[in-house]
Amino acid sequence: MYFDHSATTKTDERVLHTFMEVSTTYFSNPASLHAAGKQAEKLLEKARSQVLATLGLELTEGVFTSGGTEANNLAILGYVYANQHKGRHLLTTAVEHPSVLHAFKYLETQNFTVDYLTVDSEGRISLAELQSFLRPDTLLVSIMHVNNEIGTIQPIAECAKIIHSQSRAVLHSDCVQSFGKIKLDDEQNCPDLVTLSGHKIYGVKGSGFLAYRKNIRLHAISYGGGQEKNLRNGTVSVPHAAALAKAARLQVEEANIQQFQQWRDELVQFFSGIEDCLVLAPQASAPYIVTVAFRHVTGEVVVNFLQERGIFVSTSSACSSKKSGVSHVIEAIRLPKDFEKGVIRISFGKDQTTDEIHQLKKAVHQFMQLLKRGIRK
Ligand SMILES: Cc1ncc(COP(=O)(O)O)c(C=O)c1O
Repeated sequence: MYFDHSATTKTDERVLHTFMEVSTTYFSNPASLHAAGKQAEKLLEKARSQVLATLGLELTEGVFTSGGTEANNLAILGYVYANQHKGRHLLTTAVEHPSVLHAFKYLETQNFTVDYLTVDSEGRISLAELQSFLRPDTLLVSIMHVNNEIGTIQPIAECAKIIHSQSRAVLHSDCVQSFGKIKLDDEQNCPDLVTLSGHKIYGVKGSGFLAYRKNIRLHAISYGGGQEKNLRNGTVSVPHAAALAKAARLQVEEANIQQFQQWRDELVQFFSGIEDCLVLAPQASAPYIVTVAFRHVTGEVVVNFLQERGIFVSTSSACSSKKSGVSHVIEAIRLPKDFEKGVIRISFGKDQTTDEIHQLKKAVHQFMQLLKRGIRK
């Protein structure tokens, strides 16, 4: 029973079929001048328009990347390199994915000033703090849409409105955890750059996308033949691009958010009834992520117990390289000390069943019984 869809998803057979068909039939290099190359180029451009269309925003440009990590790096470093004459102040949040945070940490070493927005106990930023941090020389603000560890949804439209009306900065949003599930539906107040990843939406691993407004200037962050509008170098993988377009379309058409919400409500109620257990971001989380913390137990112990019963969940701190074993997100929401090492994340996917939710509850119940008998590791 797989409850780790925020980490990655199984590639959809239909996406795999597209990948195989394009790999074997339209395998030419889209930069080649001959007819087969032209055909591959046509497919590539069609895939680009399709991905942009599924976003449904005022973003008309886009670059295929190897995933969300590369798209985040291109958005942040690429925008900063191309526009640094306009200012050296940058703004992000304390709870971003490492592919965003580490890019900002690097920029701090290059004499840029970075401010980090704090979050409340549910992982939400404050619009008043955002407003107070904006400066005349703020160049770029990066705020994720849905947090990958605790599921918090940030008010991206409101952020865009404030940033666009009160500063010269542009807004980048890492939408890896929301794409195809929670729409950025305010077309006018949308980010200027948006990051997507294929493997979180039943696409192929190694596929991603950076969408951006027409007037945005970016600088390449690697060197080579200038493919992908001189922004990303190396032969473009048309199979990855076509597969991403297919995965994006299927995700938008098939995501069953109401069902996710029902399961989430059921689990939130279940975990709230357990002594020594806290539900994180109970009000602010996306419907497909349930993160909970156990008192005086490590997340690894819970993950292993469930794994022995055929249930896969994750700890929230898988990406954390910190010696404390507590992730930056858990630190940022200031979880009580006796809970902070006991975090697990449950994330739903489209093949999930209600029976699996019940089996998960049963297994957690057994775990709590064992704990009561004093088996804490
Ligand atoms: C919020 C967020 N951003 C970025 C990434 C990185 O995406 P990728 O694995 O495609 O590089 C992830 C992956 O876990 C993520 O959850």
